[in-house]
Amino acid sequence: MPDSNQPSSDSLVLDEQALHKAATADLDEGAVTPAYGPHRDAIVKLLNDALATELVCVLRYKRHYFTADGMESPAIAAEFLVHANEESAHADLIAQRIVQLGGSPDFAPATLEQRSHADYDESSDLRAMVRANLVAERIAVESYRQMIQLIGDKDPTTRRMLEGILADEEEHADELKDWLHR
Ligand SMILES: [Fe+2]
Ligand SMILES: [Fe+2]
Repeated sequence: MPDSNQPSSDSLVLDEQALHKAATADLDEGAVTPAYGPHRDAIVKLLNDALATELVCVLRYKRHYFTADGMESPAIAAEFLVHANEESAHADLIAQRIVQLGGSPDFAPATLEQRSHADYDESSDLRAMVRANLVAERIAVESYRQMIQLIGDKDPTTRRMLEGILADEEEHADELKDWLHR
């Protein structure tokens, strides 16, 4: 029989000690709470790799947008531009989160491609462009799925941000798959 004075493991009770700690922690640390401490560096590293991936995706989509322009399907070019802008918004969210965690967002162009999970692409054929983007989106989806799993409850704010980005990447992949099957 469980002791009725002890909260059971599924009771929704706040941790009073953690609340007190949150109120008395060094205010100069801003959004960085001690809870992020042990895993912060690893999370910042994961986020910087994701940032590099998003930036390479922006460049690939921009390249495709401008070179597909005038070819037989302006609608695909328009789709590339929409994706480019959404990847750019993802990069901004990730960079902002890295700073909130007390890390340093890495925009260094020299190492961007090597740090990115997905590849840059210079295809001139429209179908090859769509295929390259679909491959990149599938890599992005898989990398965000893994990050969400790894981070779990270690940093719920970062995880929620990544879940939002993952939903966008899944949508991008679906749209590209539709183009490929037309
Ligand atoms: Fe993205
Ligand atoms: Fe995407």
